[in-house]
Amino acid sequence: MRLFALLLLAALSLPQRAAAAWPERPVTMIVPFAAGGPTDVVARIVGEHMSRTLGQQVVIENVAGAGGTTGITRAAQSAPDGYTIMMGHMGTHGAAPAVYPGLKYDPVKDFAPVGMAAGTPIVIVAKKAFPAKDLAEFVAYARKNGDKLNEGHAGVGSVSFTTCSLLNSVLGIKPTRVVYRGTGPALNDLVSGQIDYMCDQIVNLVPQIQAGTIRAYAVALPARSPALPDVPTTKEGGLPEYQVSAWNAVFAPKGTPREIVTRLNGALLQALADPATRKRLLDLGADLSDTASQSPEGLQKLVESEVARWSKVLKETGAAAPK
Ligand code: MLT
Repeated sequence: MRLFALLLLAALSLPQRAAAAWPERPVTMIVPFAAGGPTDVVARIVGEHMSRTLGQQVVIENVAGAGGTTGITRAAQSAPDGYTIMMGHMGTHGAAPAVYPGLKYDPVKDFAPVGMAAGTPIVIVAKKAFPAKDLAEFVAYARKNGDKLNEGHAGVGSVSFTTCSLLNSVLGIKPTRVVYRGTGPALNDLVSGQIDYMCDQIVNLVPQIQAGTIRAYAVALPARSPALPDVPTTKEGGLPEYQVSAWNAVFAPKGTPREIVTRLNGALLQALADPATRKRLLDLGADLSDTASQSPEGLQKLVESEVARWSKVLKETGAAAPK
């Protein structure tokens, strides 16, 4: 009987012992889009510093497809042992339920939120040769030629898809919508002039805007971004009704031990407090002000509100899937 009790005790304490010893090997962070895009950039910047704190490498694995839902589904179904986490965002954990009726995860129920990594304001960008010198001319040209334009995005339900669905609705246009495995590859085609415009997250765009290889018409914020002081806001450009921002945040699968989530959150917060890491993110236009969502509880509340918000917006723009 005594041996049985000891074995039972050992078996019961196994998960606790594993959680206490975590991490004993590298941690995989799934990025649900192609390398080089905004989500990948944010993940690699915070992941690099998290590796130092955790004492194990945070290894980025890009798993693209279906507007980010392929990678997030994979991450949601992975073992809740702290060795697989993910960088989700306003698309995968906000818009997705409205555009994928058969979505294989519930952003509200199927995750252990870790914390907000970076707010990512949206910029309306176009190819260098686009025949408009400012936002007013872009709006006029798009309203006249919308059905002849090619707009790039990262898949139904992605941030670029969702935020440009809103812009297209505001402008009353139906462009050809060109899908990419991320807005990293889409940006390459914008630079080469293969596509006409995009609504993308600022952290993907600042180097190209500063290099003058693409046109930035406006940032969809109430005030200009410190990273792009010469780019007007949509309000300044005469389109005050288009104000939208996105975010990227770290999640673990549901059932990940609380102790591990707490340590992941601690490593994330240390990354966001590190001056060099902060500078890299802020120089790319990231918004690090939403400290409330940097806690697991705060991020859970944000996901709940974003799912409700984007379901409504996407229904209104006609981009939502029929129920
Ligand atoms: C990316 O990293 O490619 C973007 O986050 C995709 C998107 O527009 O959601």
